[in-house]
Amino acid sequence: MVKISSLVSLLVTVVSCHAFLPFPSRTFTNNRGSRQTVSMAEDTNFEGIDLARLLGSKRLSNIKRKLRRQQALEAVASEPEPAAQTASKKEPLGIIIAGAPASGKGTQCEMIVNNYDVVHLSTGDMLRAAVAAKTEVGLAAKEYMDSGKLVPDDVIIGIVKDRLAESDCKENGWLLDGFPRTPAQADALASAGISADCFLFLNVPDEVLVERVVGRRTDPETGKIYHMTFSPPDDEEVIARLVQRSDDTEEKVKVRLEQFHANVAAVKGSYESIGIDIDGTKKPADVAEAVSAAIKEKCGV
Ligand code: AP5
Repeated sequence: MVKISSLVSLLVTVVSCHAFLPFPSRTFTNNRGSRQTVSMAEDTNFEGIDLARLLGSKRLSNIKRKLRRQQALEAVASEPEPAAQTASKKEPLGIIIAGAPASGKGTQCEMIVNNYDVVHLSTGDMLRAAVAAKTEVGLAAKEYMDSGKLVPDDVIIGIVKDRLAESDCKENGWLLDGFPRTPAQADALASAGISADCFLFLNVPDEVLVERVVGRRTDPETGKIYHMTFSPPDDEEVIARLVQRSDDTEEKVKVRLEQFHANVAAVKGSYESIGIDIDGTKKPADVAEAVSAAIKEKCGV
């Protein structure tokens, strides 16, 4: 709708630009019932102006058309640009965290998930769930896990690829914890076109790892990881329900460490350009700070 005030402003501009013409005036009855004469320049509310009579209906229609065109052009110019042109879409993150058994991967994953909102995929947790549910995968994995050995590549690769193809991973990004652990697993990711933004490697010497493994306990209700010496829970109720993993013994951790050392160089070699080593011997909060700095450096977030 054409506003009368805009219309008259245009008209005043047109008329006043014509330097030799005085502003037209008009006499009308005001709100108080008295007769009043005003010039167009004084009548800021334009109450007393009969534009059709003053200009003639043809000229008035022409002016209205011109105003409508001008308003349409102004509306287009003030429309916000489509979001896609103003802000580029944030790419979901792909993070791999690696390190020896009990190097602190699971502990750091808690912080990474809180800060970056990525989907946490722990192959150890996935396999333990499959064992507990006695699925085909679980039955195939059980004997390997119980002895501290890696489960065969063909058992684990398909599970991880399928999980990464799910919509939550595609939309929110992912955090792979404990995968890839062999060169074949790293190659499988690459062949599937799955590439990470950073490869975080927690460095902890073997003698420290053994102590961490035997003291580790997990809360089955929350999944939270504790250590009976370094980070025991305060709550008696939580302490009472803690469980120890069947592979967290001194004997089994030796086998797990052997498997780790046999593969680590080749796996790290696959991610040289995005890899970063982190000292995992410090306190968990200090390691978390170094992890955040590494993600910033490698992923730019
Ligand atoms: P998985 O569950 O992945 O075990 P893992 O790699 O041996 O790693 P962990 O879970 O033992 O340790 P973590 O590094 O997460 O340390 P955490 O934070 O808990 O795998 C289990 C098995 O599944 C394998 O042996 C294999 O059979 C199979 N498997 C899994 N993935 C596979 C794959 N890709 N291919 C083939 N087989 C596969 O910390 C440990 C303890 O230390 C805790 O008590 C914690 O409180 C404490 N701690 C953590 N950080 C610190 C710190 N900075 N200072 C002091 N204490 C700390």
